[in-house]
Amino acid sequence: MMDDKTLLERARDARERAYAPYSGFCVGVALLSRSGEIYTGCNVENASYGATNCAERTAFFKAVSEGEREFSRIAIVGGSGCGTACCPPCGICRQVMREFCNPDEFYIVLEDGDGGMKKFLLRDLLPEGFGPENL
Ligand code: THU
Repeated sequence: MMDDKTLLERARDARERAYAPYSGFCVGVALLSRSGEIYTGCNVENASYGATNCAERTAFFKAVSEGEREFSRIAIVGGSGCGTACCPPCGICRQVMREFCNPDEFYIVLEDGDGGMKKFLLRDLLPEGFGPENL
């Protein structure tokens, strides 16, 4: 059983690989699939700023491209420079989560910037979201 603390540690390791020369804001995540695999991700910036990929999407796209379709939790760690703060996922990443995760069951685990953690269900961070079943 993978606990939240371990998942946050894996996110911290992934953050070391962030490519963020423009913002200096480094993000790492660890995404847990229902099958029990962990997929890590970091943000990958680009000289053409809009081509930047967030850490969360890096992990989702890695996982889906390896055949995963169902996920239970993601831990996210981020902040400027070496610091960490609470780093909630951006709107585009919440929408990507909505595609593959049950909003009533998928947990988003964040650091609170004060040594502790915060935990949310996707349904609370993306209320009334548009998903595959709306098409
Ligand atoms: N970023 C992420 O990777 N995930 C988030 O949840 C928030 C923002 C990245 C994008 C960009 O490289 C940098 O953080 C500053 O926005």
